[in-house]
Amino acid sequence: MYFLGIDVSTTATKALLMDRTGVVVGVGVAQYGFETPQPLWSEQHPNLWWAGTQNAIHAALQEASINPDEIASVGLTGQMHGLVLLDQSGRVLRKAILWNDQRTQPQCDEIHHLIGRKRFIQTTGNLALTGFTAPKILWVRENEPELYAQIAHILLPKDYVRLHLTGVYAMDKADGAGTVLMDIRERLWSDTLLEALNIPPEWLPPLFEGTQITGWITSEAAKVTGLRPGTPVIAGGGDQSAQAVGVGAVNSGIAALTLGTSGVIFTSTDQPFIEPEGRLHAFCHAVPGKWHLMGVMLSAAGSLRWYRDQFSPDLSYENLLKPAVDIAAGSEGLLFLPYLTGERTPHPDPLARGGFIGLTVRHGAAHCTRAVLEGVAFGLKDSFELLKASGVESIQQVRVSGGGAKSPLWRQILANVLDAELVTVNTTEGAAYGAAILAGVGVEHWNSVEGACESLIKITDSVTPHRAQVGTYQTLYGLYCQLYPALKPIFHQLAHI
Ligand code: XUL
Repeated sequence: MYFLGIDVSTTATKALLMDRTGVVVGVGVAQYGFETPQPLWSEQHPNLWWAGTQNAIHAALQEASINPDEIASVGLTGQMHGLVLLDQSGRVLRKAILWNDQRTQPQCDEIHHLIGRKRFIQTTGNLALTGFTAPKILWVRENEPELYAQIAHILLPKDYVRLHLTGVYAMDKADGAGTVLMDIRERLWSDTLLEALNIPPEWLPPLFEGTQITGWITSEAAKVTGLRPGTPVIAGGGDQSAQAVGVGAVNSGIAALTLGTSGVIFTSTDQPFIEPEGRLHAFCHAVPGKWHLMGVMLSAAGSLRWYRDQFSPDLSYENLLKPAVDIAAGSEGLLFLPYLTGERTPHPDPLARGGFIGLTVRHGAAHCTRAVLEGVAFGLKDSFELLKASGVESIQQVRVSGGGAKSPLWRQILANVLDAELVTVNTTEGAAYGAAILAGVGVEHWNSVEGACESLIKITDSVTPHRAQVGTYQTLYGLYCQLYPALKPIFHQLAHI
């Protein structure tokens, strides 16, 4: 018996086959790009996801060399918040507006004005932020009225793939919460919000808990994917909640830190915990009946990728980071601001910018490299401090994953900056692995997500803070915190040049 997890991400679709004991037997990846047709815009055609899904499934099946009839269920995950608009016949009306699109600040302001900022936070668990789905719907209404008039269905990226796989319009509650159109306590669409924003409720699909069956592979989908017709497709979750399942952050007290393009600090909560100012995101978890809090920085490992691609494109990450090991903590007074694509937590500002602050002639490339790693760690500390102050159960363990977490130097810097023990786990396939677990629970191979994680996920390594460096970083963090407020007016003026 096998379970298939599919992750429809911004850069690729990944299909992962897991056996009944949690061992990964095959992985297929189909890559694609996204477009930035105007400053602050980010779009992708949904066809890429469906083609990517088919290719990734074929590649995973080929690697695993198994009979597809033995796949018991499919779980879906993917990039959150992307607005997919379809007409009555299910035809795509425009390219999807993605999570990293920043064009909707006026619509966010409008939502807060219409609903009231406090009331909006108390209902949805969040501020209306440019990345989220609701303001994108208002943007289309205001800017593309003819297209808006044809809308019959709104989906999120992975749910567009679900539509192709099963013929069913459906969404899970974790991803649904990221539209900021749900009443997060009720785990349902908020009729009050939809009415106030004048969005027809019939455009939105039914909501399911992460492990519920939403439909079955159609014979048409079976032909193009190689899957067995009738294979159940489980709701799944947005990539952050599925990633958390994949590393076992499914109980309170365990935090997940993901160092991908974006950087995320995430903790599961048994109650709908809402940060009163909406500085953290509060969403439903993919674990049925649970919620989570998270802080998202937009350019984490993305900052390091930018830095390498621009200044040392021929170096491997390993060789890029090697000289930074010998630089003292604090990079001799050099700070890096990681807001290269604007920021979300704790400064929701599409116009925030990055920078090196404190350069002198003594600073060389290795100092700059180390400063990038440290700056990203300070940005993540912002979210970590908010999480600790929010009143959630105290965090006993931080499980670190994602491409950036492969660097022992970066893990140590993070442990020192956060002043917390960081552990790595045996599961390294991220959200697709979490989706496969949800698929397994959905057909009752495991009794619960928590039980599955307990039996599959083991700690492999641990990094503890170096006392001497913790103090240095505390001082530098105090300075880092003053940079954004001081530079914000300049960032905003620069954005208009
Ligand atoms: C989460 C978020 C990103 C995307 C990236 O709120 O916007 O993590 O889901 O895939």
